[in-house]
Amino acid sequence: MRLQHATWQEVEAYLARETGIIVPIGSTEQHGPNGLVGTDAICPETVAWEVGKRHGVLVAPTQNLGMAQHHLAFPGTISLRPSTLIAVLRDTVLSLSRHGFTHVFFLNGHGGNIATMSAAFAEVYAERSLQQAPGSELHLTTNNWFAGPRVRELAEALYSDAEGTHATASEVALSWFARPEAVKQVEMSPRIAPRGSAQCDADEFRRRFPDGRMGSDPSLASIEHGKRFFEASVDDVWEAYRTFSGRE
Ligand code: NI
Repeated sequence: MRLQHATWQEVEAYLARETGIIVPIGSTEQHGPNGLVGTDAICPETVAWEVGKRHGVLVAPTQNLGMAQHHLAFPGTISLRPSTLIAVLRDTVLSLSRHGFTHVFFLNGHGGNIATMSAAFAEVYAERSLQQAPGSELHLTTNNWFAGPRVRELAEALYSDAEGTHATASEVALSWFARPEAVKQVEMSPRIAPRGSAQCDADEFRRRFPDGRMGSDPSLASIEHGKRFFEASVDDVWEAYRTFSGRE
């Protein structure tokens, strides 16, 4: 069930029976020579929509822009600075909380968002704690689709040390499953990209990682692999959501 495709009466009826919601969050950033700029948003929303469909969980609109400053030396990247993303997430959570949502499950597709998301949650919790009457219950969590146990096991089995940490083979595979028209056969040189840290500015990032990949060989990706990542992630995420929200 997608929030954007529901009426307000349907949302009200949903809130009468359950108060959890999934918010996909990604990024708009380069993903190497064969990956889409939208990869980090497409992957979590594809999984979230399926979890929503199978289990009747409401799914909010995708937060398509994330904290991607280190990718800005590559055309197409659009980044929010950390303080902007914190403000966007804070307002998103406070809007949902106002309606009575108590468990907000962010399904994330971008490692670079994690620190800023934690800071945003701390802002929201601090705001409540500093008030004398914080009001209704509120729980926030970040779940990374790429870090679930079934997904990790599959990535290890299919790609081992060619999975990498950015423009990974698994995320390219899942995005191709979601958007089969996007498949591109590109020869990677070197086959496995350099490894290293992304804690630097955009120009330094491009010097360290010239074609945008980090430690990966996404030419190993396929739609068939993507379908397997999709099923693995839907199971991982549903399990995590149930634990978080207390839903049977
Ligand atoms: Ni990514």
